[in-house]
Amino acid sequence: MIKIKTEAELDCMRKSGRLTGDLLKFLESQIKIGMSTKELDRLAYDYITSFGATPSFLGYAGYPASTCISIDDTVVHGIPSDDIIIKEGQIVSVDVGVILDGWQGDAARSFLIGKCSEEKVKLVNVTKECFFKAVENLSDGTPLGDIGYYVQTHAESNGFSVVRALTGHGIGREMHEDPSVPNYGRKGTGIRLKSGMVVAIEPMINAGTFKVEFMRDGWTVKTQDRRPSAHYENTVAITDKGAEILTL
Ligand code: MF3
Ligand code: CO
Repeated sequence: MIKIKTEAELDCMRKSGRLTGDLLKFLESQIKIGMSTKELDRLAYDYITSFGATPSFLGYAGYPASTCISIDDTVVHGIPSDDIIIKEGQIVSVDVGVILDGWQGDAARSFLIGKCSEEKVKLVNVTKECFFKAVENLSDGTPLGDIGYYVQTHAESNGFSVVRALTGHGIGREMHEDPSVPNYGRKGTGIRLKSGMVVAIEPMINAGTFKVEFMRDGWTVKTQDRRPSAHYENTVAITDKGAEILTL
């Protein structure tokens, strides 16, 4: 069941969304070569709680941290660790979620650390563009399949592939609500998105194969060929005026 948010509820989600977006800007300003992913996670925890909000990932299905930090061939759900050190030339994808006054925000960015290969730079840029291609074409009445269509077309026309095993999702009082939002699909198919729906759109784009592997820690997802991956996510509300990105 897809929940329709009232204008007052959307205002609450604008607030949790803004905090989520601001948190990612803060983390971008703090991320440094030589830092462990656990240190970055700690900064996120302190930031979120200093605003009276709760890190939504912490304890979610037993997840042990406030962020997912996924480097290079890790697609998503990398667990922050004292033993994982951020190095020059890496793609570091940071995914965060907050709950403010009962409402969720969910967003992710891929950061390029220092000088990176041309392929990584292109992958990160194309992944972000995939998100915006989908959002540019999103308004009241858009079929859900259009999101996947625009993401997939842009990724594949650039020689990259779209992860299929994981998707975006509706979001509200819960982090994961209906509908599921695939990053592949056909234009004109699926349910129509309506004003008052809120979705997390999150392209996960791979340099090589679309196939992924789930690691034995129960969380970490890697590319099967161990080539790099990038992730870009925002919480997006559909309103009468079009798509409104809440977590920029
Ligand atoms: N942003 C991710 C998602 O949309 C985060 C979930 S990680 C978890 O699914 F740890 F919270 F599960
Ligand atoms: Co998400």
